[in-house]
Amino acid sequence: MIGPAFLQAQAQTMSTTSSSAMPPGIERSSFGRLPDGREVDCYRITNDNGIEMRVINYGGIIVSLKTPDRTGRMDDIVLGFDSIGDYLSDTYRQANPYFGALIGRYGNRIANGRFTLDGETYHLPTNDGPNTLHGGDVGFNQRLWHVEPFSSAEGRGLVLTYTSPDGEQGFPGRLSTRVSYTLTDDNELAIDYRARTTRATPVNLTQHSYFNLKGEGSTSVLDHELMINASAYTPIDETLIPTGEIADVSGTPFDFRQPTAIGARMGQKNTQLAYAKGYDHNFVLSKTPGQGDLPTLAARVIEPRSGRVLEVATTEPGLQFYSGNFLDGSLTGKSGRPYTHRSGLALETQHFPDSPNQPNFPSTILKPDKTYHSQTVYRFSTTASENQPHAD
Ligand code: GLA
Repeated sequence: MIGPAFLQAQAQTMSTTSSSAMPPGIERSSFGRLPDGREVDCYRITNDNGIEMRVINYGGIIVSLKTPDRTGRMDDIVLGFDSIGDYLSDTYRQANPYFGALIGRYGNRIANGRFTLDGETYHLPTNDGPNTLHGGDVGFNQRLWHVEPFSSAEGRGLVLTYTSPDGEQGFPGRLSTRVSYTLTDDNELAIDYRARTTRATPVNLTQHSYFNLKGEGSTSVLDHELMINASAYTPIDETLIPTGEIADVSGTPFDFRQPTAIGARMGQKNTQLAYAKGYDHNFVLSKTPGQGDLPTLAARVIEPRSGRVLEVATTEPGLQFYSGNFLDGSLTGKSGRPYTHRSGLALETQHFPDSPNQPNFPSTILKPDKTYHSQTVYRFSTTASENQPHAD
């Protein structure tokens, strides 16, 4: 099922369109303008089964994603807005939820906005208490990306590129980033990330969609059943920085190896849950032997009533599961309904937080002679009935 070998071939086989002519299954419209006058484009991409995704070039944000429930009813399952003004508003920026956006240069936190590389100490803007979150004050989520739509044998999608100048947000090296979103007729959204740098630099790219499989603007996701393919996680301190420990999940609320309702253990007295106000932790993914460099299953979410199932596979070693703890109803989404506490969940595939300061974590340093490459696949399906578990 998951493990699209096509991702390797994709770069060679896709045909892109840069003029106003769009490949079949892709439409472009205006999403408004940035304050400096630059136009924000919205791309609507559909597959043969009617799944529809809309993406804007600002932040590479997935603004909507419509998938069928078990009866065929389509609902939009990601949180977001339908005008650029909402993504630029003060309320949004203060809440800083990163709805649907591409995250870079460094997804997740870097402690005290500082790291040392090859004997030099680099300082980054701190935008999350004492720490740097998701690339600093102006991360990739707030950049205007260059977009090339394409249609290939594997599906339809977009290639997004952005070149981050040397020193941007304090990071060394000029970083050329290329991300592709492919919507396949197997109901997968395949994301391929590549980057090159001119100087050694930390890189950790991810996607920050919030899902609610009942449809965005619904009640909390505490009733969603979650499986995470991880027997360890990285515990955090009170500022959400890993302590460096790789802890066994056994006997803790972090054991999601068997599908468990997200809310089932949320109320337990647990220091880790208290620090994060819920789940906001990096899981150390178990890798399937023999899969080589292909994405392996990281998580599965089932929403019992609608029957919607979301599976996540990745080549990354970690997964940040965030249960929407900071959502408080102050933002109103596309449907006109407020995004209340825990009404969306994020599953961010990534390297571990604060890796540049954690010698025992897998390295996130990209050197000029290497290409950063990672792949993540989100797969959408349904269960046949409320009591029937998802069949692999
Ligand atoms: C990540 C972080 C969370 C939160 C969200 C955005 O998931 O880990 O703590 O900041 O982004 O609100």
